[in-house]
Amino acid sequence: MSADHTASLEEPTRRDFLYIATGAVGAVGVAGFAWPFISQMNPDASTRALASIEVDVSAIEQGQAITVKWRGKPVFIRNRTDKEIEEAKAVPLSDLKDPIAENANVASDAPATDVNRSAGDGKENWIVMIGSCTHLGCVPVGTSGDYGGWFCPCHGSHYDTAGRIRKGPAPRNLAVPVYAFTSDTKIKIG
Ligand code: FES
Repeated sequence: MSADHTASLEEPTRRDFLYIATGAVGAVGVAGFAWPFISQMNPDASTRALASIEVDVSAIEQGQAITVKWRGKPVFIRNRTDKEIEEAKAVPLSDLKDPIAENANVASDAPATDVNRSAGDGKENWIVMIGSCTHLGCVPVGTSGDYGGWFCPCHGSHYDTAGRIRKGPAPRNLAVPVYAFTSDTKIKIG
């Protein structure tokens, strides 16, 4: 400051310029600081769009699966075969490591029956789950593992054809997000 002050006595014009420039920087700083808060209060269209997505599943044959991205996470959508459904239905609940459905569309304490894990009566062939291993979050691989469901290669967790944890360190079944069929061939996730 003292150097500027001394300089200003000799060069008043330059001093004035520096003063104005400093004030301008201050104003920009305040605007930049306020923006994140305004941004959070008024999410733009792209943020709102990511809150839910609609997926056309008409091309997914029985036995096939796709992975879509929703809120930055992979979501598995699998059209299960009759054999895969039967295998999952045949498992006694007492065999399950996590007996809770972990499905956001049913009661929080609903049992992990196959129907409670799937899209429900009449649509039991469909299963929709967040593709994040409940151990440490790796992305499991489909149609693999000891139970033909998903296998997480990170530390060896095996999920069955209903996405229920059957073996390995993962503590919970793969989570089922909020979703609904908006038509026979479209699923809205979120
Ligand atoms: S993250 Fe899947 S088994 Fe560890």
